[in-house]
Amino acid sequence: MDLPSVYIFVLWIISVAMAQEEEDWTKNCNKCTCIWADGRRTANCANQNLSEIPKDLSNTIKYVDFSNNPIYSLGSYEFSNSNLRDIHFLTLQNCSIETISESAFYNLGVLIQLDMSRNRINVLGEDTFRQVKRLRILILSYNNISVLPDGLFFNMTFLKRIILDHNKIENISPETFKKLPVLNEINLGNNRLKRITFDVVKDLPYLNSLNVEDNPWICDCLLQDFRQSTIKNNLITKETECQEPPRLKGTRWQDPVIFACVPEILDPKPLTQVEATSTNVTLSCKVKGDPTPDVDWVNNGHIIERDPRKNKQKYVTFKNTSDGFTWNNLTITGVNYRDRGDYKCIAKNPGGEDERNITLIVPSGPLVGGGGATPMASSTLWIIGLAITFIVLLLVVLLLVCCFCKRSSHGMNAKRREHADSSEEYINMSGGQADIKKGLITDVNPVTKPPRATVPPSVVSGGTEVSDVKRNLLDNESVFGKSDFFVAVWFRSPLICAKIHIRVIHILLVRRK
Ligand SMILES: *[C@@H]1O[C@H](CO)[C@@H](O)[C@H](O)[C@H]1NC(C)=O
Ligand SMILES: *[C@@H]1O[C@H](CO)[C@@H](O)[C@H](O)[C@H]1NC(C)=O
Ligand SMILES: *[C@@H]1O[C@H](CO)[C@@H](O)[C@H](O)[C@H]1NC(C)=O
Ligand SMILES: *[C@@H]1O[C@H](CO)[C@@H](O)[C@H](O)[C@H]1NC(C)=O
Ligand SMILES: *[C@@H]1O[C@H](CO)[C@@H](O)[C@H](O)[C@H]1NC(C)=O
Ligand SMILES: *[C@@H]1O[C@H](CO)[C@@H](O)[C@H](O)[C@H]1NC(C)=O
Ligand SMILES: *[C@@H]1O[C@H](CO)[C@@H](O)[C@H](O)[C@H]1NC(C)=O
Ligand SMILES: *[C@@H]1O[C@H](CO)[C@@H](O)[C@H](O)[C@H]1NC(C)=O
Repeated sequence: MDLPSVYIFVLWIISVAMAQEEEDWTKNCNKCTCIWADGRRTANCANQNLSEIPKDLSNTIKYVDFSNNPIYSLGSYEFSNSNLRDIHFLTLQNCSIETISESAFYNLGVLIQLDMSRNRINVLGEDTFRQVKRLRILILSYNNISVLPDGLFFNMTFLKRIILDHNKIENISPETFKKLPVLNEINLGNNRLKRITFDVVKDLPYLNSLNVEDNPWICDCLLQDFRQSTIKNNLITKETECQEPPRLKGTRWQDPVIFACVPEILDPKPLTQVEATSTNVTLSCKVKGDPTPDVDWVNNGHIIERDPRKNKQKYVTFKNTSDGFTWNNLTITGVNYRDRGDYKCIAKNPGGEDERNITLIVPSGPLVGGGGATPMASSTLWIIGLAITFIVLLLVVLLLVCCFCKRSSHGMNAKRREHADSSEEYINMSGGQADIKKGLITDVNPVTKPPRATVPPSVVSGGTEVSDVKRNLLDNESVFGKSDFFVAVWFRSPLICAKIHIRVIHILLVRRK
């Protein structure tokens, strides 16, 4: 045979083989329709009331469509049992699939696209896609998935698109989308996500499309970072709205609002009272909130200036943020009774505000000064107060007693004079009175010692008893000394009073006899 005829023969062989193969791959299609579509050998098995994957489809088929069949579940080795080891595209839409065995896709090593949308898939085991290492597109839209296990997509080094819209996903852990070096699209639209952190998508270098529309987003500080970062990196592809809090319902993520956490005053508790124990008193207010709330102190309806230069050093404010909360302390210096009353700590941020009343109690007595000095315990103050009160009462009683003495002796004196009775009792009484008079005068003007002449002459010219009393008094005076005259008078008056009393009682008793 010459060369051209060999060439023709070879061509013939090839064409026959191809025809044979062409015939072969369509031979066992049964209910499915085997056609070339988009340049691929395709088995269209949709709408055939198939309850399981046909076993005898040709292994040269690249694209299989099983949609709209009542398959219900994918068991172990579902595909490796068939000849479909080399398929690139597998579509299982609307097959009522609820459960998928973790080894269902075993041996589908070259599968590029898997579409299982519109099923009832509840649960996906962590290893479900472990065997489909070359998968690039995974479509799970319109299922009933609520949880994505952490390792579900690990090491899928070819995976570019994960489509999970219209499921019931409530939460995505930061581990879900890890080790996905070429992933560029995630669709999480129409799920039940309320919050998500940017960590979830942080390690995806090629991500450029992230759909999170129509989720019940709670737009507070916990979502702020995700929202800011995704917008900054231009990842968000669909307009996304907030569901909560009420004031942000319907707000778009692109709108210029801050997703804030409402301030919360952790300390003090409601109805707190603070008692001033020193001249500087500090009220404190521990606040949580994001962004960090601005705190104002209000006293009797007036905001206390935060700027220390403007509040004239009467108030000193202090702020310390750590561990996610802020201490806002207000020190009131030189506290006096007028500073008592209601103070209010008001914490505000874009999310809202919280407030707390604190009542400052200032005791009416003097306050202990000296910031370094330990404030005196209230019990000690009580004891001092009581002691002072006791002394004052004692003095008052003494004064009253004296006055009474004076008056009663005066009255007695007058009576005696009427009766012109010069009994020794009378004389003694008069003597006493003279000295009281002296005492009183000394009280008014203690510097000038009143002359004895103030004593009525009639009294001075009394009997021996008078001089006795006088001598007694003079003795007393000498005991105290002239320099202690004032003290002496203080002590003497009650002494005299007491003496007079005894006398009066004595007279009365004698008279009755
Ligand atoms: C589908 O197949 C089941 C048996 O597998 C049969 O009972 C049913 O009638 C079929 N439905 C239709 C619409 O052919
Ligand atoms: C889903 O599949 C069922 C048959 O299993 C079919 O009757 C129904 O029309 C399909 N639904 C859609 C939306 O294609
Ligand atoms: C979806 O899953 C829940 C449990 O996670 C189940 O109660 C519910 O019936 C499922 N819905 C459908 C349509 O399968
Ligand atoms: C992912 O791949 C790394 C090595 O590339 C391996 O150490 C790790 O165990 C794999 N993880 C899973 C879940 O397969
Ligand atoms: C004031 O702030 C500090 C925070 O540094 C806190 O430890 C302290 O208890 C606060 N309150 C008072 C009354 O000093
Ligand atoms: C602020 O609070 C932290 C922790 O409570 C503390 O370590 C730090 O010293 C405080 N700063 C000031 C200025 O008081
Ligand atoms: C604080 O006290 C004022 C009256 O003094 C009252 O109107 C207000 O409701 C109180 N606020 C709180 C948070 O208790
Ligand atoms: C009270 O506070 C003021 C201002 O900080 C300070 O100058 C003063 O020394 C303090 N007084 C006491 C008694 O601590």
